[in-house]
Amino acid sequence: MNASSPSSSQERPQATICLLREEDLAAADRILRLAFGTFLGMPDPLQFMGDADYVRTRWLADPSAAFCAELSGELVGTNFATRWGSVGFFGPLTIRPDLWDRGIAQKLLGPTMELFDRWGIHHAGLFTFASSTKHIGLYQKFGFWPRFLTALMDLPVRVQGSAFSANGARFSELPLSEKEPCLKACRELTDSIYEGLDVAREILAVDNQKLGDTLLLWDGSALAGFAVCHVGAGTEAGSGKCYIKFGAVRSGLQAAREFQRLLEACKAFSNSQGVETLMAGVNLARLDAYREMLQAGFRATRYGVAMQRNGDAGYNRPDVFLIDDWR
Ligand SMILES: CC(C)(COP(=O)(O)OP(=O)(O)OC[C@H]1O[C@@H](n2cnc3c(N)ncnc32)[C@H](O)[C@@H]1OP(=O)(O)O)[C@@H](O)C(=O)NCCC(=O)NCCS
Repeated sequence: MNASSPSSSQERPQATICLLREEDLAAADRILRLAFGTFLGMPDPLQFMGDADYVRTRWLADPSAAFCAELSGELVGTNFATRWGSVGFFGPLTIRPDLWDRGIAQKLLGPTMELFDRWGIHHAGLFTFASSTKHIGLYQKFGFWPRFLTALMDLPVRVQGSAFSANGARFSELPLSEKEPCLKACRELTDSIYEGLDVAREILAVDNQKLGDTLLLWDGSALAGFAVCHVGAGTEAGSGKCYIKFGAVRSGLQAAREFQRLLEACKAFSNSQGVETLMAGVNLARLDAYREMLQAGFRATRYGVAMQRNGDAGYNRPDVFLIDDWR
């Protein structure tokens, strides 16, 4: 669907770009829901995403990576950048619908690209609507090219009373002295998949903001895998849901089996949290991971496309068993 017309004939207001301030979070949240809800044709656009939250949680995770556009001092759009070590992605990018096609998103993307440069990002990307000529055209102007589809998937989880409670298997339960070594082990695992990939910020955001937990899959004293999960209202999951924002297992001969174990752990964790749905996304370039998820009972609710700077593959390779969707 493409709800817009080309912008060249429209008046171009002089938007100012700055960092998002705490007092503007409510307005930013409203614009995000209004923009997506309008684009998707929802009867009440403000109902988009229910009680899930992206604005406050991402702002708290890194306020220096949250940009806003203002017109005459009024907030009219935002964009959030995320740094995972050598990997960077951005979004949600949203502009107030009455101001679409006036070049404001492009103004927000300029500083976002500069931030990626300052961070020394090697692999940059975003997730967007695969069928929108506007979205794909907009991001191509910044050197991002459509690559593989990304499936957003759901798995209904029934309560079986098998809570995931193995000792030390949750980051939140580790003694303080073990947290830094655990982050190091996670870093070492992701670095073995793609040089410099590091989601420690995501693990810490979940821990500090109490958004859910990070599940740790040990094989003896070695970390075999982990999954960063958001749970419930006020997180990226929403009520009744657990969302695997990032999950990965070590590559190698045991990867498929370990990935199944990780999915089982996520299911059991969801059970222990009393949610009905486990959500996760995967780039289809990681074909075996996608197949394992289908095998585990996940069903796609929507497909989007990953756009990657210069068309670089990054960690989207068939041998990689990793869950993320950059949504
Ligand atoms: C997507 C969104 C952020 C774009 O914001 P915007 O301020 O309208 O975008 P801009 O005016 O800066 O840029 C639009 C660009 O789209 C491109 N475009 C539009 N229609 C196009 C088409 N049919 N084919 C190719 N490119 C097209 C053009 O490059 C255009 O820029 P130009 O005309 O100045 O060259 C906004 O529409 C929005 O909030 N949508 C709802 C939420 C959303 O989908 N967010 C993005 C999720 S990835």
